[in-house]
Amino acid sequence: MEIQAVGGATAPEPVNLMDPATFGRSIPHDWFDWLRENDPVHWNEPYGRDGMTHFRAVPQGFWALTRHADVSHVSRHPEVFSSHEGGALMEDMGPEGLAMFRQQLIHMDPPEHTEFRHVLSKGFTPRRIRRLEAFIDELCRDIVDSVAPLGECDFVDMVAKELPVRVIGELFGMPRSDFAKLIDWTNRVLGIDDPEGDFADGLAAMQELFHYVTMLGEEKRRDPDGTVISALVNSEVDGRPMTAAEINMWFFLLVIAGNETTRNAISGGLIALTEFPDQRRKLLDDMSLLKPMADEMVRWVSPVIAFRRTALVDTEIDGHPIAEGDKVVVFYPAANRDPRVFSDPHEFDVTRDPNPHLGFGVGNHFCLGANLARAEIIAMYRELFTRLPDIEVAGPPARWHSTLVNSIKSLPCRFTPH
Ligand code: HEM
Repeated sequence: MEIQAVGGATAPEPVNLMDPATFGRSIPHDWFDWLRENDPVHWNEPYGRDGMTHFRAVPQGFWALTRHADVSHVSRHPEVFSSHEGGALMEDMGPEGLAMFRQQLIHMDPPEHTEFRHVLSKGFTPRRIRRLEAFIDELCRDIVDSVAPLGECDFVDMVAKELPVRVIGELFGMPRSDFAKLIDWTNRVLGIDDPEGDFADGLAAMQELFHYVTMLGEEKRRDPDGTVISALVNSEVDGRPMTAAEINMWFFLLVIAGNETTRNAISGGLIALTEFPDQRRKLLDDMSLLKPMADEMVRWVSPVIAFRRTALVDTEIDGHPIAEGDKVVVFYPAANRDPRVFSDPHEFDVTRDPNPHLGFGVGNHFCLGANLARAEIIAMYRELFTRLPDIEVAGPPARWHSTLVNSIKSLPCRFTPH
């Protein structure tokens, strides 16, 4: 089926943006390009069935935003477009799920959001990130050491996946001897979203993780040290100590927000470098381009697909009426390829400057881990370019089915063994 646009341009086959399988195939850039030009405030029909799991509610249709200016407008106006009302995820949640997730920063609105963000951002000061850099460099060296003699491997499993989870453990202040447990819990929790994953096992892993964090918190309350977990259990919000449940949900958010995103920026980055060999050459000639490369990877890959807001009042977007209670979803991969803002938006260009991409969001929920993610991407590619400069994709990627993360499950790669 083809849809005729105003002006005669022919639309590609429409896809439902709420169907995880859509993104299991690839990011639908053709459809995003068409929507951006012809239907920038697009009504997307609900997808899915009621009560699929414990947390899910009746699926609701939504306004899909694909222009940079509209994504930016909605993200900058939490007083109109709430992250709290219906949560920040595209997937609809019932009252029980909402109550649980609203304890997480990402599902809060000001003034509650402002207060929690102030406390929680203590873990992300430039000083703390700088202190992590030596640890990140050491990890990247170990990871590349382990694959260098092989000549080929699965890039996700053996390279990209290995880094972010350990960095989160270190950031939070977990003893390194417990990292293996963290990796196991994380893999099981992240499997919840995938049709091949085991939902019950994912929930069990979440409970185990919560129990562990509570015990570690108790220990740090009795015996404070300089770690983030210690700072959290000993700090106050709203004149009271943070509860164990709030600290659990915070750590859970870090595991979700900081893991898959960074992993996929690194994996998607290898696809970009393979498709654009001239950009790799530029980087090999001048490693100072690693810094702009990290942002260009986040723009081009757009590891986060979408977040949701709910209109608190009748309003409009781009002159289009939006009613109180309407669900609005912002699509970062679409905004990041808006030709109104980026020249040759589908090209990967490590010298792009300025690069006002929205891959880390914008406004009050701007990614707290952005600098950490940049540090990880830069360290990993510095090590790869130094040791395995011809590393490239060797076959098609397998993708997860998710409407949240642009997620690559496996990615064969090859290189001259070192
Ligand atoms: C390339 C990697 C990453 C990408 C693309 C990314 C993307 C995003 C985006 C788009 C948001 C905005 C959410 C919204 O507006 O509703 C966000 C928020 C957030 N991110 Fe990231 N992120 C990345 C890495 C990380 C890392 C490494 C961490 C921490 C370890 C992290 C922690 C957070 C937190 C805590 C928030 C919520 C902030 C708030 O609600 O105030 N992210 N991220």
